[in-house]
Amino acid sequence: MKVGGVPYRAIFTAGDGVDVRVIDQTLLPHRFETIRLETAADAARAIRDMVVRGAPLIGATAAYGVALAMRADPSDASLQQSLALLASTRPTAVNLRWALDAAGTLLRPLPPGARADAAYDFAARLCEEDVSRNRGIGEHGLAIFQEIARSKGSGASRPINVMTHCNAGWLATVDWGTATAPVYLAHDEGVRIHVWVRETRPRFQGAGLTAWELGQHGVPHTLVSDSAAGHLLSRGKVDLVIVGTDRTTAAGDVANKVGTYPLALAARDNAVPFYVAAPSPSIDWTIEDGANIPIEERDPEEITRVWGVDEDGVERRVRVTPEGTRAANYAFDVTPRRLVTGLVTERGVCAAERGALGKLFGLS
Ligand code: MRU
Repeated sequence: MKVGGVPYRAIFTAGDGVDVRVIDQTLLPHRFETIRLETAADAARAIRDMVVRGAPLIGATAAYGVALAMRADPSDASLQQSLALLASTRPTAVNLRWALDAAGTLLRPLPPGARADAAYDFAARLCEEDVSRNRGIGEHGLAIFQEIARSKGSGASRPINVMTHCNAGWLATVDWGTATAPVYLAHDEGVRIHVWVRETRPRFQGAGLTAWELGQHGVPHTLVSDSAAGHLLSRGKVDLVIVGTDRTTAAGDVANKVGTYPLALAARDNAVPFYVAAPSPSIDWTIEDGANIPIEERDPEEITRVWGVDEDGVERRVRVTPEGTRAANYAFDVTPRRLVTGLVTERGVCAAERGALGKLFGLS
């Protein structure tokens, strides 16, 4: 995707291919800066502090974190330490475990001298696969959009109105995004599309990131408060909802950014289709029941403080609550499979249930 007309990925290597760079998402939308990750500890900090975020990008950053560790010290002890450090950063997105398990399985049997190159190749491959997976989700999602547009008579005079939550955009992946991939494809193909962007309290991934990246790509969008969704759904202003996922169980329950579950409830009550863009690394085949997904709890200051730019262009962080207010900051919730119209994977669209998912991915 492009930033100011220049193509970027959310994580990339520069120079001789060992210099790992990411976009600092804590500064968007007010400042666009890339930073260099030099060590596995840098990668771990970037994930924990949400310099990078979004399930697929967390996995990709962890893979490069292991590569950085192997470049510094390819011993068994260093490999184990870096895997453990990176695994401890954020608990909900299963892509993290998926990437680290695969890196460990690949690197452990190799002689230490071969590990750094193999780890870099692995991370680069993981990134390429992420891009093509998301592109596949885009194509399957686009077919849904087109079908809905046909059935609603959307055309030159009426855009398809899509609602999304959080940022499951290209910033959350290596490129394309998951929930946004069909949006970008539709827009690029000249299909009229408009996105309702939910602000996504408390960290404003919708207001700060999704609105920014849609704007960079020229996709028409409107920001709404999270609590406006029910109103818009009930007035027929939303044709479909599509969100991302941090972990989808083998039976189809979906953990995603907190607020997704009430959005799915409101969509169901108003008979609006609710789709989840679910790349296969976000599927946790070891869990059936969404109640077993670990839900991250973050610093309450993310709720009691907001950061932005004032009228004079000065960045400020301010408190919005009475001093000392106790707050609890649950970062994700679980949407039960019964509320999910379909999972849009790179292999196609299926019902949110074990049989359908297993069939798509060749599992019994
Ligand atoms: O806390 P975040 O910003 O990492 O949460 C991100 C989300 O909830 C996304 O919807 C999810 O990771 C899917 S990203 C393609």
